[in-house]
Amino acid sequence: MNDTVRIAPSVLSADPLRLAEQVTQVVEAGADWIHVDVMDGRFVPNLTFGAGMIAAVRRLTDVPIDVHLMVEQPENYIEPFAEAGANIFTFHPEATTHVQRQLVAIRERGMQAGLAINPGTPLMYAEEVIDDLDLLLIMSVNPGFGGQGYIPSATEKVRRARALLNEHGSRAFLEVDGGVSVRTIGHAFAAGADTFVAGNAVFNSADPAHAVHELRKLCRVETLA
Ligand code: DX5
Ligand code: ZN
Repeated sequence: MNDTVRIAPSVLSADPLRLAEQVTQVVEAGADWIHVDVMDGRFVPNLTFGAGMIAAVRRLTDVPIDVHLMVEQPENYIEPFAEAGANIFTFHPEATTHVQRQLVAIRERGMQAGLAINPGTPLMYAEEVIDDLDLLLIMSVNPGFGGQGYIPSATEKVRRARALLNEHGSRAFLEVDGGVSVRTIGHAFAAGADTFVAGNAVFNSADPAHAVHELRKLCRVETLA
């Protein structure tokens, strides 16, 4: 068991009709954060949740709500999502003109600020604003849908991201999102990730609570050797 690892089940893969029951189940199993994927049908070709979902999860649990915005102009959601109870607010640099300004605004509103890097997006975007980051999210799929396969080159990018954070003395979380499963989580962990989003691997398993335990168990320090 590694206490420095965070497992963040994504409600994108939960059953909307059993959401409260399933979120409670994974929180009781030790899920560290609840990941909420916000999609606007423009930045990605899919539509999901808004502030209402964040507020609903907030009423259910005290665990940090990790909101991942796959939307154009994420700045429009800083205020309403903070109000709804979001703890971490992560957006993509392509989605807004003034990335650094938005990171500052997120922190000013009392949330932790995250930047998400797509598979085809250079890590350099993060380097430019590294002191303004509480979280760096490396996408291991092209965002938009749950249940996609982990892109193997993400592991190397995680390694470079870890080196970048270390080089700058940053204590930002290093999160991986997309295709995280019992087959892939060990690679991302060994490369230096410390926070893992998992949708399909948790909520589409026969036993979501067990899946959370299994994923955490695979983040073993021995794999770093
Ligand atoms: C993908 C989302 C992910 C998604 C991950 O666009 O950002 O958070 O829920 O789902 P899995 O774990 O099924 O790949
Ligand atoms: Zn996500």
